[in-house]
Amino acid sequence: MSQKDRYAVIGNPIEHSKSPWIHAKFAEQTGEPVEYGRILGPLDGFTRGVKAFIASGGRGMNVTVPFKLEAHALADSLSPRAAKAGAVNTLAFGPDGVRGDNTDGVGLVRDTEVNLGVSLKGARVLLLGAGGAARSVVLPIFDRAPAALTIVNRTAAKAHQLVDQFARDAAESGVRFSGGGVDSVEAGQYDVIVNATAGSLDAALPDCEDTAFGAGTLAYDMMYGAQPTVFMQHAEKLGARAADGLGMLVEQAAESFFIWRGVRPDGGPVLRELRQTLAAKT
Ligand code: ATR
Repeated sequence: MSQKDRYAVIGNPIEHSKSPWIHAKFAEQTGEPVEYGRILGPLDGFTRGVKAFIASGGRGMNVTVPFKLEAHALADSLSPRAAKAGAVNTLAFGPDGVRGDNTDGVGLVRDTEVNLGVSLKGARVLLLGAGGAARSVVLPIFDRAPAALTIVNRTAAKAHQLVDQFARDAAESGVRFSGGGVDSVEAGQYDVIVNATAGSLDAALPDCEDTAFGAGTLAYDMMYGAQPTVFMQHAEKLGARAADGLGMLVEQAAESFFIWRGVRPDGGPVLRELRQTLAAKT
């Protein structure tokens, strides 16, 4: 029997997941006795896969595509941010059952503020997309006290739904909050524009006014790859600074590690090494 506590990421497909590599680095950095593997979840057997891992002594899991909604349904209890997101990417197994959390939003916020050095406090933020990825980041963005958040989506009705869902949280946080179709983009440059659409997967550029981008804008794509995404290239042409989602991947993992171990790893050096590995593959 291994002396280490066991964790894993479950998804389908899973072979390209960088989470085992990232968590191995965190374990090394913090000295925590953590062993982290990958599990290919059967498309019709997510719950079975989780239960088998618990039965074999597993302590927690990360959950990735396509199981984040099923993980939300499976959890016995949820953090407020996971409940609002409607999706779970982190499971912790304890005496009180399965606890579900969502660390994606904190991952985005920490990458933006700590790694990229762009404070969200008082910022005007534009969020493109209104699916699961967008919903996961709304509350953590509010927590950083931006001046305004605008949600813009190809299908305006879905953005309106999110605005309704989070209206009270926005009011409590003192954030000006609105959204809809592309005509909801407000005049002037935004400080931060986040692409949370699935567009980059098929190299599609989400609709947005060019006037939203400028020299003072950080254009953040939640996707990443060896090459800059079409969204990043577009933003740079308009004079903005562009970033991909590799740092969000590392920082959401750091937050999961913190939930499990009570110790927060430093994502910076791990991100730099991961970036080099990615560049070396091109
Ligand atoms: P995820 O969990 O990754 O957010 P999702 O819930 O299916 O996935 O949401 C996908 C998001 O990407 C939606 O906002 C979708 O817009 P619609 O609601 O109009 O479908 C957006 N999206 C996907 N492909 C897009 C494209 N080519 N251009 C613009 N938006 C796109």
